Amino acid sequence: QRPNLRLLSCPGTVAKDLRRDEQPSGSVETGFEDKIPKRRFSEMQNERREQAQRTVLIHCPEKISEKKFLKYLSHFGPINNHFFYESFGLYAVVEFCQKESIGSLQNGTHTPSMAMETAIPFRSRFFNLKLKNQTSERSRIRSSNQLPPSNKQLFELLCYAESIDDQLNTLLKEFQLTEENTKLRYLTCSLIEDIAAAYFPDCIVRPFGSSVNTFGKLGCDLDMFLDLDETRNLGTHKTSGNFLMEFQVKNVPSERIATQKILSVLGECLDHFGPGCVGVQKILNARCPLVRFSHQASGFQCDLTTNNRIALTSSELLYIYGALDSRVRALVFSIRCWARAHSLTSSIPGAWITNFSLTMMVIFFLQRRSPPILPTLDSLKTLAEGNNCTFCSEFFEYFGNFAFNKNSINIRQGKEQNKPDSSPLYIQNPFETSLNISKNVSQSQLQKFVDLARESAWILQQEAIDRPSISSNQPWGLVSLLLPSATNRKSFTKKKSSKFAIETVKNLLESLKGNRTENFTKTSGK
Ligand code: CTP
Ligand code: MG
Repeated sequence: QRPNLRLLSCPGTVAKDLRRDEQPSGSVETGFEDKIPKRRFSEMQNERREQAQRTVLIHCPEKISEKKFLKYLSHFGPINNHFFYESFGLYAVVEFCQKESIGSLQNGTHTPSMAMETAIPFRSRFFNLKLKNQTSERSRIRSSNQLPPSNKQLFELLCYAESIDDQLNTLLKEFQLTEENTKLRYLTCSLIEDIAAAYFPDCIVRPFGSSVNTFGKLGCDLDMFLDLDETRNLGTHKTSGNFLMEFQVKNVPSERIATQKILSVLGECLDHFGPGCVGVQKILNARCPLVRFSHQASGFQCDLTTNNRIALTSSELLYIYGALDSRVRALVFSIRCWARAHSLTSSIPGAWITNFSLTMMVIFFLQRRSPPILPTLDSLKTLAEGNNCTFCSEFFEYFGNFAFNKNSINIRQGKEQNKPDSSPLYIQNPFETSLNISKNVSQSQLQKFVDLARESAWILQQEAIDRPSISSNQPWGLVSLLLPSATNRKSFTKKKSSKFAIETVKNLLESLKGNRTENFTKTSGK
């Protein structure tokens, strides 16, 4: 049965359309609806945003007593929850029970005056706490970790896992955003919202992308969307009698130009007045204009966009896919780590595959299983009964042999289609169907992806036949896939030399490469 993806046609309403209570009568889906997240994406976003509005960020002295700190702050109002973290200094995130407490705290705070420099008197929710007299007490503050594990830590954990499934889940657990990290992301958006509100008092700055779609790894960037719809829509119904009141506004020739002007002015604002906002870059000529900056205290690299509602909708779509089964996220995280380990993805923009494209590829792959794994839940169960290694190795095999030269990936219909243009990798944007989300990817980057996918499929399949014992602490399963190729092959061939002659390994890899060259010759001959 084909899932009712027709329902996804209207941006901004994914969750609403898919929720059981709102399925049209006569829908044939069974099981799938139960897995739609109980909480709507927008409900979750609003709740967290409201929390963030009651929250402050405080740079603290290193020597601080947690108890005294909380006692001092509770003078301004009751505290709901708090945590500390370190990022070039100690910081506290403190959530008050009531929004009014923030005002009291701000009223009890002064703008510092310095000998050599002059402060721009902007009253934000980002504070600096100083000790009046140096106290000698030093209690250990438990700080929450905001960083992903090191390779060494990760490999150790993975080597001691019990199966490849277990490895995928361990990797997910280690890399996924923590509750504290998520809070810090919403708080950062809220602090930026305060600055944007100087121009647009009713604006909302919403996080989107991997910060909220449940596919974010610790350390991922923070994508922000400046939502001006409230500003536009307020007062639309306040008409009476024969009169209609409109604002006098400046007009510009296109929506794109309006977006560029708004972002340009906000870029200046962040640069001049934004406490802790550094390295502000205005990238206004990109397809989707943005302002990029780092928020020093939280350590987030931020991309601020506006007029980009589709991206919010695709974040919601991924949020729903991620909730259908925990293995979806586990596979996506592992594929993302695998791609990063082999430099298939990069933090610098360029001809590389993006994490977003990779996620779409995983979803597509899961839709193309027979029977389909996404979005039908029943098929997911069936597959789980198989060999625990198939899930991951099948992904590599599938894309190692995918006809990228003629086919595009279409999540909407869950099937391949003829490519509408000659982009090496074509993944249709599910909401703006004339766009290719991986237009940036070059032929050589795609070739590298295919090459590594084939090699990884092969490694996993061989391991299924002859796996090192778990206690041996030897790289196996996912670890072999995450190691740089050459090293990996060395330890791999050593390990297997009793069974497979090195020559055999080489020949097989060569023949795989031969096939691949053939595929691509066809493409370039077109
Ligand atoms: N997006 C899109 N089309 C693209 C690129 C991005 O619609 N061609 C949207 C997606 O919703 C994506 C979001 O913009 O999730 C943010 O893009 P990006 O930061 O590149 O990807 P993330 O999913 O956030 O992944 P990462 O962890 O790498 O930041
Ligand atoms: Mg992102």
